Amino acid sequence: MQIPEKNLGFELLRVTESAALAAARWLGKGNKEEGDGAAVDAMRLSFNSLSIKGKIIIGEGAKDKAPMLYNGECVGDGTGPAVDIAVDPIEGTNLLALGRPNAIAVIGACTSGHMFRPGSSYYMKKLVVGREARDVVDIDAPVADNLLAVARALGKDINDLVVFVLDKPRHRGLVEEIRKTGARITLHSDGDVAGSLMAVDRSSDVDVMMGTGGTPEGVISACAIKGMGGQIFGRFDPQSEEERNAMIAEGTRLDEILTVDSIIRSEDAFFAATGISGGGFLGGVQFSGKGAVTHSLVIRAKTGTFRYVESHHNWERLMKFSSVRYD
Ligand code: FBP
Repeated sequence: MQIPEKNLGFELLRVTESAALAAARWLGKGNKEEGDGAAVDAMRLSFNSLSIKGKIIIGEGAKDKAPMLYNGECVGDGTGPAVDIAVDPIEGTNLLALGRPNAIAVIGACTSGHMFRPGSSYYMKKLVVGREARDVVDIDAPVADNLLAVARALGKDINDLVVFVLDKPRHRGLVEEIRKTGARITLHSDGDVAGSLMAVDRSSDVDVMMGTGGTPEGVISACAIKGMGGQIFGRFDPQSEEERNAMIAEGTRLDEILTVDSIIRSEDAFFAATGISGGGFLGGVQFSGKGAVTHSLVIRAKTGTFRYVESHHNWERLMKFSSVRYD
């Protein structure tokens, strides 16, 4: 097994910046396919500059549906460490198309062979908390018990808490249960990677992320949580008979409870995210006419270091050699 030695996060940062710069041109234009296409193209091109033997574990889907960044595709220049890669060139394509907050470009990576493969699982019930509450919650416990435990761990009152929930019909019961406890809720149409990261980042207003979202998004979030020190509990939550049957056919144990350490089984894990539309989590791309400013988060799990990075991009210089057009 080859262990990545350097902070690959910084290189991944350049890739998420590239995707965010390309995607941000599509903010609010109501066209999620074009926006996603621009981000995928930019991300794919930027990956070529990385000295890694990368394999996409979480990508844009099966090869016959996704021409680029498909599951199983090799990325990087083929030298350097072998790494598993999870990408979402736009996490929250609807958010981008509608100009709503918290669309981000994200990449997670870890030592080859150590990233959980979702197979046919699309949906997972998630419970995400920060470092202080990581040992006091249980995904199968009643919502009220978990929120009380989180409040105690944070030294807060339960009605001080803010819970991030995806605004979906499947969460009606969950929202009612949370409201009964007195805790506050922030509802978002999409984007539970941003929600998970806000739950583990003490500088945000969010204390907990609860509810069912994408399994691939859970894996991407785990790359970050591994470094930031919180916990993600996941329980498969197939939303159709087809999904359930495909998982059973693959031999998946539907009652398995995933944790940050079973999703990412290596300390050599890295994460980078760049804001596209801005919002509570990361600032969005700001175009100035002559360039742009981007806001990103870079994490290295082994050291637990996370950095917020503000980058200033200069079109006059960049466009002389960049193969991606951002201006
Ligand atoms: P996309 O980036 O693929 O648009 O996913 C957005 C998202 O909201 C995720 O954050 C979330 O995990 C998932 O979709 C929820 O899926 P659904 O909208 O089908 O409930």
